[in-house]
Amino acid sequence: YPRGPILAIESSCDETACAILSPEGEVLAEKVISQEAHAAFGGVVPEIAARAHLALLPDLARKTVEASGLTLHDLGAVAASTGPGLIGGLIVGANFGKGLAIALDKPFIAVNHIEAHALSARLPGVSKKNISFPFLLLLVSGGHCQCLAVEGIGRYRRLGGTIDDAAGEAFDKVAKMLGLGWPGGPQLEALAKKGNPAAFAFPRPLKGRAGCDFSFSGLKTALARQIEPYGNTALPRSVAADLSASFQQAVADVIEDRVRHAFAMMEPPTTLVAAGGVAANGVLRASLTRIAAEHDVPFVAPPLRLCTDNAVMVAWAALEVCHEAARRGLPMPDDRAVRPRPRW
Ligand code: KG4
Ligand code: ZN
Repeated sequence: YPRGPILAIESSCDETACAILSPEGEVLAEKVISQEAHAAFGGVVPEIAARAHLALLPDLARKTVEASGLTLHDLGAVAASTGPGLIGGLIVGANFGKGLAIALDKPFIAVNHIEAHALSARLPGVSKKNISFPFLLLLVSGGHCQCLAVEGIGRYRRLGGTIDDAAGEAFDKVAKMLGLGWPGGPQLEALAKKGNPAAFAFPRPLKGRAGCDFSFSGLKTALARQIEPYGNTALPRSVAADLSASFQQAVADVIEDRVRHAFAMMEPPTTLVAAGGVAANGVLRASLTRIAAEHDVPFVAPPLRLCTDNAVMVAWAALEVCHEAARRGLPMPDDRAVRPRPRW
């Protein structure tokens, strides 16, 4: 399974994406549109996102099929993220996928978006060696911040997660306070290169605490207190750089501590995997590389285009689910009756 390439759709947040993979996982075509309409609001506006998915998806799907050199009738299955995420976008993607599957009389696979991030590192070619189970996944994006023990296909154990903001959300909010554009993470990292990470003594929330939950809102408040004295006057560039560097270091320290705990909470993992947009951060990557080395396992982060929201990972997760069903002698899955679930 499936009996032909799979077309997958991703629409759970502000990326509209389609991809087609061969049954073995070769990427035949992939397209992503990062919706720009949200920048003016400094964050994703759910209603705008849903309408944009609706406007963009039909043409994007058509272009993806064209780019693959296939016709719709060559497809063996259709997949879509059906949660967790913003419900409007999920409904658009799931119904588009189901409609196409029904019209073509092919199976529809409902993919959990987190599962797709979790399995993305196993996509052929991402890691030199095949990543076997169990592995430890750190998922850090604008919407998610959690550690998962990935024990097998369909077997995920949440070791801990954020109790307030996601890591990327914290980066974005702080960047906004510093007057940087959105999304703020990459701009904050660039500015931090010119600053001193020891300039401000920011707290390290939950550091040393049992478990592997995360908290970032205290850090955000601490930073707000530092810029208060400047009122409406512009923050000197050097201060903004020191604040960026100190904040980024605090986030990386906290995540390093939490991931160390996560290692102790599961059967020794074969690999440490990071996914999500924040996994692009160089300081964080250095911390994670260090922890992995301490535990004598490789550190793998998929390339950025697979770390941020995309449809290749959705297609790959659907393929993994199909392959697993075939291995167990179960029929090819068909999830036409599955409804989108914002908090799946
Ligand atoms: O995975 P993603 O594209 O979207 C979802 O949230 O699902 O992640 C985007 C997030 C944003 O919050 C962005 O600021 C953050 O990832 N980000 C970074 C960096 N690049 C992206 N945060 C810190 N450092 C970066 N280099
Ligand atoms: Zn995501």
